[in-house]
Amino acid sequence: MQDETRPPRPFSQACENNKHAILEILARYLVGPLRVLEIGSGTGQHAAWFCQRLPALRWQCSDLEVDQAGIQAWLDDAGRADLPRPVDLDVRLSPWPVEEVDAVFSANTAHIMGWDTVQAFVAGVGSVLVPGGLFLLYGPFNYEGTYTSESNRRFDAWLAARDPASAIRDFEQVDAAAARAGLVPVEDCGMPANNRLLVWRKR
Ligand SMILES: C[S@@+](CC[C@H](N)C(=O)[O-])C[C@H]1O[C@@H](n2cnc3c(N)ncnc32)[C@H](O)[C@@H]1O
Repeated sequence: MQDETRPPRPFSQACENNKHAILEILARYLVGPLRVLEIGSGTGQHAAWFCQRLPALRWQCSDLEVDQAGIQAWLDDAGRADLPRPVDLDVRLSPWPVEEVDAVFSANTAHIMGWDTVQAFVAGVGSVLVPGGLFLLYGPFNYEGTYTSESNRRFDAWLAARDPASAIRDFEQVDAAAARAGLVPVEDCGMPANNRLLVWRKR
């Protein structure tokens, strides 16, 4: 029976659509009791899904002005009330209010942030990762300024109309920022719906 005293959990259809394909990649890279920081956890759906299926991970959610109750509700329902509470983490602030981690995961954030923020994001990743740590970044990307699909071109126009600072990022520019942060590219995985999952490793 539905608990009517509890507010509805936030919900993202995109997370439901992409969580299976993302999990397949995470399961290859995130093996064992690793400390994982998620940037821009959003609803908390991804964290809940991945933590149920990769139970050895110590997953730390974070986001801007965290909706603690929403993310926590997803974690509680996933049976992972043992995980740390979400951290209020704006990637533009330095230093980040977290301890070092073995991996950083983020989905659909780089095209929402302005370019200065993306650069601060990637620099922050470099500062919190242990040597050999992984950065896994999911979302749409362009290559040498070219869209990989007509739907991404339309999505980028929609982003620009909504917030001119946001945009689908060029892989090459993100990779250059990653290199400045001491990260070397490991894999560029093609994903459904013209998305990518990019993986870097800290030197
Ligand atoms: C499109 S949502 C993606 C949420 C979730 N990862 C998902 O896949 O559904 C973008 C997320 O980036 C977060 N975000 C935007 N700017 C940020 C910043 N400066 N620092 C940290 N998170 C930020 C937003 O709060 C939001 O949760």
